[in-house]
Amino acid sequence: MAKRSSYICQNCGTVYQRWQGKCDACGEWNTIAEETAAVAAVPASQRSKGRGRVFALESLTGTTDEAPRLVSGINELDRVTGGGFVRGSVLLLGGDPGIGKSTLLIQACAALALRNARVVYISGEEAAAQVRLRAERLGLADAPVELASETSVEDILATLQHGPSPRLVIIDSIQTMWTDTVESAPGTVTQVRGSAQALIRHAKRSGSTVILVGHVTKDGQIAGPRVVEHMVDAVLSFEGDGARDFRVLRGVKNRFGPTDEIGVFEMTGLGLREVSNPSALFLSERDLGSPGTAVFGGMEGTRPLLVEIQALVAPTSLGTPRRAVVGWDSSRLSMVLAVLETHCGVRLGSHDVYLNVAGGLRIQEPAADLAVAAALISSLTGAALPADAVYFGEVSLSGSVRPVAHMGARLKEAAKLGFKRAVCPAAGNESGNDSGLRIDAVASLATLVADIAASSEGQKRKTVKVSQ
Ligand code: TYD
Ligand code: MG
Repeated sequence: MAKRSSYICQNCGTVYQRWQGKCDACGEWNTIAEETAAVAAVPASQRSKGRGRVFALESLTGTTDEAPRLVSGINELDRVTGGGFVRGSVLLLGGDPGIGKSTLLIQACAALALRNARVVYISGEEAAAQVRLRAERLGLADAPVELASETSVEDILATLQHGPSPRLVIIDSIQTMWTDTVESAPGTVTQVRGSAQALIRHAKRSGSTVILVGHVTKDGQIAGPRVVEHMVDAVLSFEGDGARDFRVLRGVKNRFGPTDEIGVFEMTGLGLREVSNPSALFLSERDLGSPGTAVFGGMEGTRPLLVEIQALVAPTSLGTPRRAVVGWDSSRLSMVLAVLETHCGVRLGSHDVYLNVAGGLRIQEPAADLAVAAALISSLTGAALPADAVYFGEVSLSGSVRPVAHMGARLKEAAKLGFKRAVCPAAGNESGNDSGLRIDAVASLATLVADIAASSEGQKRKTVKVSQ
C-alpha cells in the first residue's frame, strides 16, 4: 500500500503539502498536523478485483420490509429527527463536552430497548461500569441495552454483524474510534473520517441506525467530525450554557426531516427531562416592568416559542461605539440600527448597544426585528414596555413592518401564556386571529418609535407627580 505524508488541518480537514501555522480555509492556528495516510481508504480485502461487479437496480416503488422509522418515545428527540430514526441512517450528535450527550443517548437507548428494539451502546470514553452506573442513577438499569467499552472499529463491526442486526447503535464518541485501514493516530482527521466511513457503510448495509457522538471545539465547530458532517444523513447539535439547566437539541442538517425544529430539555438530578412548554420556561425569570425588555412571539419550526429580548443602550465612552449581540445575528442588529437612524430619527452613533436573548437561546428568524427595535427604544428612552404585550414582525430596509408567517400560532401561544395584546404587522387582523388577543397593528417602525416615546413621556409625568 502506497504511503505519503500530508499535512491536514484537524479542525476542518483541509490538506496541505507543507506544514504551516495557520489554516487558510478555517483560519485556525496550530491545527495542522502531519499524517501518514495510507492511500487506499478501503481495505485490500474489500477492493474488487479487476472489473466492476454488476448489481441489480431497484425501482422507486419497491417495498421496505419494516417500519422505516424508529420512534424513541422521547417527544422532543423525535420532533428534531423528523419523527424517529430512519432505518440505515447515520446521525452525528455534536455538542460541548459535559453538555449531556451521553445522558441523552443512554435515555434514548433505554426507551427504545424497553420497546423491544435491540440497542447497542459502544462507549469509547467511559468504561462499561461507568455507563452502567449512570444508567442506575437515572433509574434505567433494567432496560435491556447492550453495552461495551471499545474503540476498534473492526472489532465493533465484527460484533455487530454477529446475531440479528441491532436497530440502533451508539458510538460515543467518533473521536475515540480507530480503524486498521488508516495508519494515523486515533483522533486525527484521517482516522475520524476512516472510522466514520466504515460505520456508515455498515449502517447502509445492515439497516441499523447509527448515532455518532462528536465533541465540539471552543469556536462551536464540530472538531474532527466536522469533516464527517457531509457524510452523515443528519447532524444534530446539543446546546445550552453551563450556568443554566436547560438544553436545546437542534437539527443542523437532516436528509429525512426538517432542520428548523428544536427539542428542549432540562437537566435534572435524574437526567434530562422533556420540556413540552418551553415558552413558560424561557419567560419564567422575566424582569417585569424594567426598560429594555420585549417579549418576542417567535417560531421554532412548527412550534411557537416566546422569548424575552433584552437590550441595553448606554452612552459610549469610546470613539467607536460597541455593538455586542448574544443569541441573534449581529448583521441583523446593524440593519435594525440603521433603519432606526435613517427612518425614525433615532441617533445611536454615540451609544453602546448590547443585545441578549434570554435563556441562552439562539434566534434566527427575521420576525424578531420588531421585538429587537422595541427593546432598543425602550432602553434608550427608559420607558418600560407593557408587560402584557408580545412583539413580532420583520422590518424592511425602508422602515415598514412586513407580515410574517404563522401569525395564528404565535398569537395563540401568547394568549395561552396570559398576554393580552400583540404588537405586530397589520395582516394579523385577517389571518385567523381567534386567540382573543388585541392586535396593535404597526405599519412602520416610525409608528412604534413614536408610541414608545409617547408612553415614555407619560411614565415620566407620572413619576414627577408621585415625587411631588
Ligand atoms: P454527559 O452526558 O456525560 O455529557 P457529554 O456526554 O455531553 O460529555 O453529562 C455530564 C453532565 O451532566 C455532568 O456535568 C453532570 C450532568 N448530569 C446531571 O446533572 N444529572 C444527571 O442525571 C446526569 C446523568 C448528568
Ligand atoms: Mg459523554
